[in-house]
Formats: sequence, structure tokens, C-alpha cells
Amino acid sequence: MAANKKTGGLAGVTAGATELCTVGKEGAGLTYRGYDIYDLADNASFEEVAYLLLHGTLPTQTELDAYINKIKANRGLPDALKTVLEMVPADAHPMDVLRTGVSFLGNIEPEGDFSNQLDTADRLLACLPSMLLYWHRFHADGVRIDTQTDDNSISGHFLHMLHDKTPKELHRKSLDTTLILYAEHEFNASTFAGRVITGTLSDMHSAVSGAIGALRGPLHGGANEAAMELISEYDTPEAATDGIHQKLRDKDLIMGFGHRVYTTSDPRNTVNKRMSKELAADVGNTTLYPISEAVEKVMWDEKKLFANADFFAASVYHFMGIPTYLFTPIFVCSRITGWAAHIMEQRANNKLIRPAADYVGPDLQPWVAIENRG
Ligand code: COA
Repeated sequence: MAANKKTGGLAGVTAGATELCTVGKEGAGLTYRGYDIYDLADNASFEEVAYLLLHGTLPTQTELDAYINKIKANRGLPDALKTVLEMVPADAHPMDVLRTGVSFLGNIEPEGDFSNQLDTADRLLACLPSMLLYWHRFHADGVRIDTQTDDNSISGHFLHMLHDKTPKELHRKSLDTTLILYAEHEFNASTFAGRVITGTLSDMHSAVSGAIGALRGPLHGGANEAAMELISEYDTPEAATDGIHQKLRDKDLIMGFGHRVYTTSDPRNTVNKRMSKELAADVGNTTLYPISEAVEKVMWDEKKLFANADFFAASVYHFMGIPTYLFTPIFVCSRITGWAAHIMEQRANNKLIRPAADYVGPDLQPWVAIENRG
């Protein structure tokens, strides 16, 4: 069998079991531990969702208060890590910064045996935004920010460190909602990469570093940045309509569209699209949302392809003043919850992940001495 694009990529293959999430399941849609994504997006905070994924149940008020305090107390960065972040070049990709930051943290705060895995997960959840914005503000603005803000929420903490002030509630809440939507998605590429690493009994920092590497690519998390670049190419919905038609004629991939599992829509898009419209009105941007809608219409009319979670997330982040190159790292700040929950689930019932391959190379050949080759 030749390596076949159509049957490759493990499409449709069930590669294990999980209690964490359903994706596009008949009668359920997208759920985290049995809770509908729309209920979570409308009613929960990201910290409640993180607790749900990592601990297995929704927290009581007392548990949530304690959890928020724990996360707040874990936001600080060790001096050695700050030094490393200062040494990473200003033009590095922030996904590489996070990959390096997590890997370095694994050296100075190693997980050891796995008995403290929940603390390791919470530490990463708490300090990823600090890592990212410490590096960003140091190189972009020449300041060493205090990563220990008073904000109760991770979303507020993020925007506060980015803009040096307490964010508007609409912006904080919108970021919080995107963190909920991005938190978990079953056996997606980065989570599966993390589970493969975990299956060897490696440590959480290694699994998360590998997962960050997988998420970085434009076919996965990197699509939100590519979507922003795409909609920024156009000044009007008409130009976008013409431009996308041309790209489709050129057989270009349109970032932020399509999905391996969903076939007719991505439930997360409904929420992101609503927030994009709301934030466009809030900041008085009259072009980007109609341009996005125009792109969406052409993609559906021409290809029956729908916007996935990344497409409208791009304008949501843009409207709250987040630089495009920080979009995919925000995904990391959220998905760390799903990754860590999967790492713990894998460990609880571990089996080395080592599939087989169909061999498609040459038949057995006689050895040829080097002087007889060529
Ligand atoms: N733009 C244009 N065409 C697309 C497309 C897109 N975003 N997504 C899929 N297609 C087309 C493919 O070219 C292919 O056409 P063909 O059958 O004529 O070759 C067909 O739809 C099937 O796509 P395929 O790449 O085989 O599906 P997949 O399940 O392997 O890929 C994605 C899923 C998500 C990787 C793919 O849809 C994609 O690359 N999307 C853009 C990146 C993106 O937004 N990623 C974030 C995912 S949440």
C-alpha cells in the first residue's frame, strides 16, 4: 500500500478511551465531563472548567475560592526562568517561548514521582500567562513586569499584564469564554502527542512541551493567527468575497475552516462569532466582522466548509488589543487544562502507545559494499 493521504492521519480511528470529552457525538455534541459546552460557556468561569477537567467534578464555592487562591499564589516566575525568557530573542515565536519556558521549568521544578501531578498541572496553568507576558513585555516594551497581579481570574491576569491595567469586564469575560471553549477537545493532535509522551512514563513538563510543539502548527492551533492574517488582507466584504474565490481557484487552504471530526459546524464557532460581533460594536470596528462573515459565506457556498473555533477567535482577540502572535499561545494557556487532565488519565491506566505501520519500502536487498555503489 502506498502512503495514502486520504486514509492517513488516523482519521476515524479510535485510539483509546477518555472520560473527559465528547466531540461531535450524536446527541451530545461537545461536552466536558458530561457538561454541554454551551452551558459551560454561558455559566462557568474558566477556573471552574479547569477544576472540572482536572478534579473530575464542578467545584463548590469553597473549593472554587481555594482553587482561585492557589492559582493566584502560583503565578510568580523563578528568577532563573526570567533570565531564560530575557535571553530568548525578541523575534522568537511565542509558542517557542512557551515550549522553552515549560521545558526549563521542568529542570528547576521537576515533577519527581507523579504524586504531585495535580500541583504540577496547577503550577503550569498559573504561570503560563506570566511566562508569555513577561517575555513579551520585556522585549516589546523593555519592562520587567510584576507577574503577581491581584486579578482573581486568569483572563483578567492575562489582560492586566498585557495592557498594564485592569481590563474592561466585557473584554475579560470574552477572553475567559474563549479559554473555556479552547480548554479540551478529546484526542486532537497536541493532546494525543502529550498522551504518547506520557505513555512512556515521562514527566508532565515533557508531555506539555511536546503538546505545545504540536499545537504550534497552522493545521492545529496556529490557525487562529493565520485566520487573522487572512481577514487583514481585505478592506471590504466585497474584496474578501473576490479574494477568497481567487484563493479557492488557486487551491489555497483557508485557515480557520474545516475540521477532522465535525462535518457541518463547530459548536464553538457560534459563541466566538457572537462575541466577535459584540466586541466589534464595543470597539467601533465596522469592517472586520462583515469581512469575516463574507469569508464564511464564500467558504460555505463554494466548499460547504464551516468556520472552526479559530476563525472568529482571531477577531475576538484582535478587538481586545491582543497582538496576533500571541493568539496561539493563549490557546496553550487554556489547553494546558485538557492536556494535564489527559496526562493524568493516561497515567491512571497506562499502556505504552506504539502502533504498527504498513511497510511500503523496497523488498529485501543484498548488501552493497561502498566501492560498488552508485
Ligand atoms: N480550505 C480549503 N480547503 C479545505 C480546507 C480549508 N480550510 N479544509 C479542508 N479542505 C479541503 C481539502 O483540500 C480536501 O479537499 P480534496 O478532497 O479536494 O483534497 C478536503 O477539504 C478534505 O480535507 P482534508 O485536509 O483531507 O481534511 P482533514 O480532516 O485531513 O483536515 C483540517 C482537517 C482541519 C486540517 C483542514 O480542514 C484544514 O487544514 N483546515 C485549515 C486549518 C485549520 O483551520 N485548522 C484548525 C482546525 S481546528
